[in-house]
Amino acid sequence: MPFAHITGWGISVPEPILTNDDIAKMVDTNDEWIRDRTGIRERHIAREDQSTSTLAVEAAIKALQVANLAPTDLDLIIVTSSSPEYIFPATACLVQDQIGATKAGAFDLLAACSGFIYAVNMAAQSIRSGSIKNALVIGSETLSRFVNWKDRNTCILFGDGAGAFVLQASDQPGGVLSAVMHSDGSGADSLTLLGGGARHPATELTVHEGKHFVQMDGKAVFRFATRVMGAATKEALELAGLTTADVDWVIPHQANFRIIETAAKYLKMPMDKFVVNVDRYGNTSTASIPIAAVEAVEKGQLKAGHKIVFVGFGAGLTWGALAAEWTGPMPAKKHVHPEQYRLFARLRSLLRRALRYIEGLLSRREL
Ligand code: COA
Repeated sequence: MPFAHITGWGISVPEPILTNDDIAKMVDTNDEWIRDRTGIRERHIAREDQSTSTLAVEAAIKALQVANLAPTDLDLIIVTSSSPEYIFPATACLVQDQIGATKAGAFDLLAACSGFIYAVNMAAQSIRSGSIKNALVIGSETLSRFVNWKDRNTCILFGDGAGAFVLQASDQPGGVLSAVMHSDGSGADSLTLLGGGARHPATELTVHEGKHFVQMDGKAVFRFATRVMGAATKEALELAGLTTADVDWVIPHQANFRIIETAAKYLKMPMDKFVVNVDRYGNTSTASIPIAAVEAVEKGQLKAGHKIVFVGFGAGLTWGALAAEWTGPMPAKKHVHPEQYRLFARLRSLLRRALRYIEGLLSRREL
């Protein structure tokens, strides 16, 4: 049975930064309150010309560059997002078109902030089963578009960004070692974005009632998160035949510093084993784990051979954890330039659209 290795990674974070002081000009809050309760100092907010798919494409190209893999070699693209480009088509299909992944299947996965763990596990299991060889998993968010900037309970928390992993099959042991995925829909109303779906299609009333914004019972989510983070980490480690003593890094979902601290206490692990960057990004939902992982690689902390655990939780309610041995790029036979495929992809996409248009004209004439 092949192993599923993480061989490429990349992130895309919009440059504009919104500090706590900036938010204090919009709602009745202050830097000290936000830092004390959440650990967040600032977050990145997408420019108008950026969106969930554009950030995803940038992160994807970087991940393919690290893996030295051509987009045309991808078999599967999974995008997970709490702020997808549209209800449909899937953001993954937009990415597929823009990077020129001509052979890949593509779909979106919705498990809120646990999405990246779910998606990496789905890609890894597809590789382990032998049905595919190369997968791209992306967590991408522009949650700033769904936040009510007049609601101090939620607007202080979220930020924008994207992170991507390439997963590849190999006979060498390592890569994704185990994963657990959990859900409890009885807590569905703790964290919601209700408007625009089938139950509450967009109307003037849904806009007026704020149904197109994130709504949250912060205390309920906090209690749930502190209950599940440590337990899920332990579960994934046990499945992989590891203990906390074997772990080099825990890379948790970055929602709140106090939630991460509680998990560390539960696991009896020192905080310096936890990768934490919530102070600079806020909660980037599905993108928070890959952004934290890539920063740890770039700082030289996370290295090949390290044993790691990703753990996260989110709306649904969902939660999960995944244990892995960090690998890195596979030995290259030749150097590929994934970014160059973008130009061809754009041309091919334009040609296909033109052909579809002409086909439409011709079929109307025939009628
Ligand atoms: N600035 C100042 N005061 C604020 C505030 C803000 N941004 N937001 C809320 N408050 C006030 C409340 O109105 C309340 O005032 P009151 O006592 O006069 O009624 C008080 O602060 C305490 O509010 P509370 O909601 O009980 O605070 P808390 O300690 O639970 O912290 C969160 C709020 C949101 C930071 C915390 O509950 C949390 O982090 N929850 C988890 C959220 C999360 O991670 N969501 C994403 C999951 S993927």
